[in-house]
Amino acid sequence: MQVVAPVAVVTGASSGIGAAIARALATKGWRLVLLARNEARLRQVANETGGEYELCDVSDRAQVDRVTSAVRERHPAIRLLVNNAGIPGGGRGFLDLEPEQIEQLIRTNYLGSVWCLRAFLPALEAGAPAHVVNIVSVAGTVAAGRSGPYSASKHAQLAFSRSTGVELAGSGIEVHTINPGLIETPGFPQRSQFRNTLLQRLVAEPDLVAERVVRAVERGRVEQFVPRTGTARPSGPGSCGPQQAEIESPDDGPVAFDWRGGTRRRLPRRVAGLHAQE
Ligand SMILES: NC(=O)c1ccc[n+]([C@@H]2O[C@H](COP(=O)([O-])OP(=O)(O)OC[C@H]3O[C@@H](n4cnc5c(N)ncnc54)[C@H](OP(=O)(O)O)[C@@H]3O)[C@@H](O)[C@H]2O)c1
Repeated sequence: MQVVAPVAVVTGASSGIGAAIARALATKGWRLVLLARNEARLRQVANETGGEYELCDVSDRAQVDRVTSAVRERHPAIRLLVNNAGIPGGGRGFLDLEPEQIEQLIRTNYLGSVWCLRAFLPALEAGAPAHVVNIVSVAGTVAAGRSGPYSASKHAQLAFSRSTGVELAGSGIEVHTINPGLIETPGFPQRSQFRNTLLQRLVAEPDLVAERVVRAVERGRVEQFVPRTGTARPSGPGSCGPQQAEIESPDDGPVAFDWRGGTRRRLPRRVAGLHAQE
């Protein structure tokens, strides 16, 4: 009897974390359908992983519906949807960005996940037991100073991810959330943001996020922060305000930096903000 490989759809697979997720899933025997806008880069990842690809702008609901219909004709049942496509806000606040840029952040980072899940839901139901993995961000848990529009888009995506986990409970579809911290990718070149070598060492590689996606699916992990060190988390009342979050360092435990006024000052014990390239 021929064993048919389960089908996974990965959005934003042409670069960074999405490309790493595609490689990790291919290694695990998944059959891939990769979505993004840049054909040359997407084709390259598809060739590398033996996957199919479709050009799709996830911020465009009509386009998502069209592409999903085409994918569902070939694959009526899918077992995994990874909502990874996302754009940075350039570390800029709501007054620094043009209104169109703020709208695009919400359309891509939040609504992209909504439209893709809605459109692929019948295929996920047909493939159940199935999984949805949303690549959100630590910025979805901390309101980081001047990265307001990006942070807001990720807060919305996080609420969506958590609430759909409840809404779909019992349907055979599990929803998982991954909150990356600082990950070095073409869209988020984190290391170059820091002159401080300690902070540079807190930046992780996309493969680590991909590993956690596999872990989410294989071990049923509902929500994970990646990396577990070097991420900013709310650290108590008054400490997760606009520029305040705690950074755990692998060597020194919690370390804090003050980002106010564009400067980074090491503080005695705790807390400051983290809004590198967001
Ligand atoms: N790197 C980090 O430090 C970090 C931290 C927290 C969360 N994240 C999240 O991780 C996800 C992946 O980011 P990354 O770091 O891998 O950045 P990246 O290297 O820029 O990759 C982003 C991917 O999203 C795709 N994309 C962007 N807009 C799209 C759209 N409208 N429709 C379809 N695809 C779109 C891009 O492909 P095309 O340009 O070809 O469309 C690309 O494949 C994002 O959701 C990001 O918010 C990243």
